[in-house]
Amino acid sequence: MKLHWLSIGLLAALSQDAGAFQVKRETTTPRDKLQYGVHYFDQKINHFPDDELFSQSNLSYGTFKQRYYFDSSYYKPGGPVYFIGGVILENRYYGASYPFKTSTTDELLFLTTNQTIADNAHFAQNAVFPGVNGSLTAPNTPWIVYGGSLAGAQTAASIKVYGDILYGGIASSAPIKVNVGYPEWYNPIQKYAPQDCVARINKIVDNFDLLVAKNHTKAIKQFKAFFGLESLTDHRDFAAAIADPIGNPGFYHLNTWQELNWNSSYGSRDFFYFCGNVSDIDAPEEHTQVDYILANYTNGEPWTGLGNYANYVKRHTLPLCSSGDYNSNECWGTQNATAWASIENSSSRSYLYTSCIEQGAYISAPKEGPSLLSRVVDTDYEQQWCRWAFPPGKYNTVPDTPDVDAYNDFGAFNFTADRLAFIDGDQDVWNDLCYHSNFAPARTSTDLHPELLITGAGHHWDSYGILNVEAEPQFIREAHKWEVKTVKKWLRDFDQWKVSKKLG
Ligand SMILES: *[C@@H]1O[C@H](CO)[C@@H](O)[C@H](O)[C@H]1NC(C)=O
Ligand SMILES: *[C@@H]1O[C@H](CO)[C@@H](O)[C@H](O)[C@H]1NC(C)=O
Ligand SMILES: *[C@@H]1O[C@H](CO)[C@@H](O)[C@H](O)[C@H]1NC(C)=O
Ligand SMILES: *[C@@H]1O[C@H](CO)[C@@H](O)[C@H](O)[C@H]1NC(C)=O
Ligand SMILES: *[C@@H]1O[C@H](CO)[C@@H](O)[C@H](O)[C@H]1NC(C)=O
Ligand SMILES: *[C@@H]1O[C@H](CO)[C@@H](O)[C@H](O)[C@H]1NC(C)=O
Ligand SMILES: *[C@@H]1O[C@H](CO)[C@@H](O)[C@H](O)[C@H]1NC(C)=O
Ligand SMILES: *[C@@H]1O[C@H](CO)[C@@H](O)[C@H](O)[C@H]1NC(C)=O
Ligand SMILES: *[C@@H]1O[C@H](CO)[C@@H](O)[C@H](O)[C@H]1NC(C)=O
Ligand SMILES: *[C@@H]1O[C@H](CO)[C@@H](O)[C@H](O)[C@H]1NC(C)=O
Repeated sequence: MKLHWLSIGLLAALSQDAGAFQVKRETTTPRDKLQYGVHYFDQKINHFPDDELFSQSNLSYGTFKQRYYFDSSYYKPGGPVYFIGGVILENRYYGASYPFKTSTTDELLFLTTNQTIADNAHFAQNAVFPGVNGSLTAPNTPWIVYGGSLAGAQTAASIKVYGDILYGGIASSAPIKVNVGYPEWYNPIQKYAPQDCVARINKIVDNFDLLVAKNHTKAIKQFKAFFGLESLTDHRDFAAAIADPIGNPGFYHLNTWQELNWNSSYGSRDFFYFCGNVSDIDAPEEHTQVDYILANYTNGEPWTGLGNYANYVKRHTLPLCSSGDYNSNECWGTQNATAWASIENSSSRSYLYTSCIEQGAYISAPKEGPSLLSRVVDTDYEQQWCRWAFPPGKYNTVPDTPDVDAYNDFGAFNFTADRLAFIDGDQDVWNDLCYHSNFAPARTSTDLHPELLITGAGHHWDSYGILNVEAEPQFIREAHKWEVKTVKKWLRDFDQWKVSKKLG
């Protein structure tokens, strides 16, 4: 299962640029084969002891073991002061770094952007690297932060708030301006996906929405049955389920447009297979026949591609629900409030929490224009999960609607900080929340505020690389070279910066 926006594979809240100062390595092991040992850092649960909101909780004064990894193969003792290598600090949000065994509303009090960026600064000031001869802490050593997706936004905020500690950063596909709803998620798919497929789905969605508007209950039931999903009584759950191959507000199973990648080792062709099926002109008659069954509801017009679409979902999507109980919480049924209230710590629960309190960006159907998701799905759909999952605690209450203003206070489309680079992809489903959004002002790049929009690229595609940069596809290759050059330029000014900050 995939979280709909976070690539949980990419937890790099902090990682230094490994390419900027390449020094010959002692080891002959190829870098992608190196195994990194896990280390633990004693991180503060609460960085703001004077803040009343946090300090009333009895968890406030503890620490937790935050995992990190590092690569010191580029480190050169006695060489330049710069730490040549990479550090990955696991985000407090996920996996084994999550401070608590459970995640009640009260325990989640500490899962905020402010606490997370404070983790980054505190780590950079205090981290130790066993086996490395010398102190590498910030700000005496230049720390360059890199992050993609949500970690990209945290990178941007880290540099903005802790620019006196963290020397610079690259924020890749970083959502910096959010609204409660995010129907624009579908825009790049609507615009760039194979258009025969898109047009067919748009029309089928229109037709389904017409059935709902007219309350043709019998036809709605029939329509659901084509997909084998008549058990999904909530129309929104059903709409999300059949959008599984495209992407939906919940947790989808197949790989979508978001999971495409320039390198097939990291990506998946699922989306194109799905579209190929929907628009298949050689489909067997048993599929195409289905297109005519509901034609009576559309003035005799067939629902072109419906049989193909339904067949694909039945054959390739439904089997991913292993219990076969499609209306259950493990599959596409989201209306069981008790199931949401389970306090087991998990990355999807952490992610939902951040959406509920400050990030919003609930995927929903567009209010106007063609749609790939039925318009029955609006922002209330996700908001109800917030209510069910996070009942008020003793110290912490989830707001009725995400406090997006607090999140946008870091700068939104006016986000700026010295030595903070923004890099995005113009085909990224999240791009309209990023620095290069279609809603953002025109951008101008400077050495202190560099920016790059990679043409044809998706969600933080620069995060993926192969050892031979020259062998990469042209725009990815050039993006990587640009990043290396950008950091190199910054590092040249580091001594001067240290003097200006009166550091030793
Ligand atoms: C903190 O308070 C909760 C009740 O609000 C209690 O269950 C828990 O044991 C307390 N934890 C500590 C470490 O005192
Ligand atoms: C650590 O580095 C210092 C300064 O470069 C050097 O004098 C010392 O010998 C090094 N120690 C080890 C154990 O390599
Ligand atoms: C939180 O859950 C993850 C898996 O979901 C687990 O690996 C981790 O140990 C848990 N954390 C704690 C502190 O129990
Ligand atoms: C839709 O029709 C069913 C009967 O077919 C009825 O029970 C239900 O109240 C109707 N819903 C709306 C919103 O009109
Ligand atoms: C994709 O990545 C793999 C693993 O890093 C690499 O072996 C392969 O050459 C890459 N393919 C392309 C087309 O870059
Ligand atoms: C239909 O989908 C299957 C499974 O993903 C894939 O193997 C097949 O190539 C697709 N067919 C077409 C015509 O795209
Ligand atoms: C469409 O409606 C006509 C007249 O009401 C009916 O005879 C026909 O069976 C219907 N066709 C389908 C496929 O339901
Ligand atoms: C709702 O979820 C709870 C907890 O997972 C489960 O025990 C219960 O059976 C579910 N109820 C229904 C109606 O599926
Ligand atoms: C985050 O911290 C800043 C101070 O650095 C404060 O102004 C802001 O209100 C905090 N945001 C939230 C949501 O608490
Ligand atoms: C961004 O800055 C411009 C010009 O200073 C201002 O007009 C606009 O309101 C700002 N936008 C936001 C979202 O703060």
